[in-house]
Amino acid sequence: MKKFYVLFLLAMNGLFIASCDAGVQEVTIVPRPVKLQVVAGHFLLTPATVINVVTGTDEVLPACRFFSGLLTRSLGVPLEIQKGKERKRAINVFVDGSLGEEAYALTVQKRSVKIKAGSARGVFYAFQTLRQLLPASVEAGKAGASLEIQNVVIEDQPRFAYRGMMLDVARHFFPVEEVKTYIDMLALHKINRFHWHLTDDQGWRVEIKKFPRLTEVGSVRDETVIGKNTGNYDGTPHGGFYTREQVKEVVQYAADRYITVIPEIELPGHASAALASYPSLGCTGGPYKVAGSWGVFDEVFCAGNEETFAFLEGVLEEIIPLFPSEYVHIGGDECPKTRWKKCPKCRARIREEKLADEHELQSYFVKRIERFLNARGKKIIGWDEILEGGISKTATVMSWRGTKGGIEAARIGNQVVMTPNSHAYFDYYQSRDTKQEPFAIGGFVPVEKVYSLDPTEGLNEQEALLIQGVQANLWTEYIATISHVQYMTLPRMAALAEVGWTPQEQRAYDDFLKRVTGLAERYKALGYNFAPHLFNQ
Ligand code: ACM
Ligand code: ZN
Repeated sequence: MKKFYVLFLLAMNGLFIASCDAGVQEVTIVPRPVKLQVVAGHFLLTPATVINVVTGTDEVLPACRFFSGLLTRSLGVPLEIQKGKERKRAINVFVDGSLGEEAYALTVQKRSVKIKAGSARGVFYAFQTLRQLLPASVEAGKAGASLEIQNVVIEDQPRFAYRGMMLDVARHFFPVEEVKTYIDMLALHKINRFHWHLTDDQGWRVEIKKFPRLTEVGSVRDETVIGKNTGNYDGTPHGGFYTREQVKEVVQYAADRYITVIPEIELPGHASAALASYPSLGCTGGPYKVAGSWGVFDEVFCAGNEETFAFLEGVLEEIIPLFPSEYVHIGGDECPKTRWKKCPKCRARIREEKLADEHELQSYFVKRIERFLNARGKKIIGWDEILEGGISKTATVMSWRGTKGGIEAARIGNQVVMTPNSHAYFDYYQSRDTKQEPFAIGGFVPVEKVYSLDPTEGLNEQEALLIQGVQANLWTEYIATISHVQYMTLPRMAALAEVGWTPQEQRAYDDFLKRVTGLAERYKALGYNFAPHLFNQ
């Protein structure tokens, strides 16, 4: 039998510290795999290496192409992708449906690399792990044409099925290329949901053929307030929207990285841009403006007007075919009831539907939209305010005002995604020394705080099963460039990724800190801007 050294065994010490033993390189993988052994020796990857799909459908091809594309510049040629029997000098890919859908095993040996995964998704995550075994310079296409990959045996699968990142493109618009960059960042972290916040008071960002004024009028604000509602404005219009073709392009780009795009169409609040486009949908009839300042506005969709529902259903009819996602996010947060209290149509609705108050009117609104979506094969997800006034059994709650709403929802049997502002709001400051930071909305969520989130804390075993996973949100009132987006999300996204992926009992912040340094090298090589606080100490 061939002699080899198992230098570091099993999960509790998954990190291998470099030593001068026979050709062992440091292995730092984020999120931390469930099981990792580092074994002496290496596989030599060269232009002659092939990616060989032994079992699996064409669904694995995007994963293979991703890895091949990653290496093309360093090797001078793309890695060839082929189908065939298991062979040497190859990355042999096996899809084995007996494994969990996102699970994978990755074995790197002298003669070959073997990926065995439950589905194409798992294959993609195996390639993302393999990526982190390559030198960071590969990200810049400068790793050279002969790459030693440390021998390892890895078995891995995520703790949660839902691992998300939200980007608000309403407060500031980000063009398609930048959205793709954001999706690339998610892929590196094995995040599998991109929540695209497409509409808000300050802009409507998705083309709807039936309602052209949404983009003609609703996608542009005249000017933007300077700082935090100072009363001083910049005098410069800000706008932008995605055409249907561009939405399809983004959805496909994400799908090629096994990321599902969840569109958010805000209702009944955060509706100023829609109301500016179609004033008859508001309780007062307007006139309304696309907001140029920040906050929560009294002007919301009229819940008593049938036209409101015809409009929203028309919008959703066009959204549904663009997004394969099982979920549509319907917002539901921060809807003041000021106008509804006075509006004759809203009063009449409350009477006719025998509702107790405006909170039940909001619940009526959300449930009606939910029925419409359910009938078209979609599920709704909404911010935790959708609990107020009663919630259907089938809605998923996104808990943002801490974990309280999520805990409440799980206790009554609803599914939950945890995205508490206490841990997962990446628009908040990440340092106490705010004077040294780009201007931000407030708060304090350093990397360590993100890392400390346990999404099932406070729940019993049964309730914990309802926690689908975690997400972090990037609201962009004060964030206008992709470079700033990166600064706010990296490396906090790495901490979030590990919260979502790694079993709680295997997570330790000190251990994470040792590994995240390797990831930062990769950010650097990719040209990503990232917050330096962790790395300056
Ligand atoms: C939110 O932050 N208003 C969901
Ligand atoms: Zn009304």
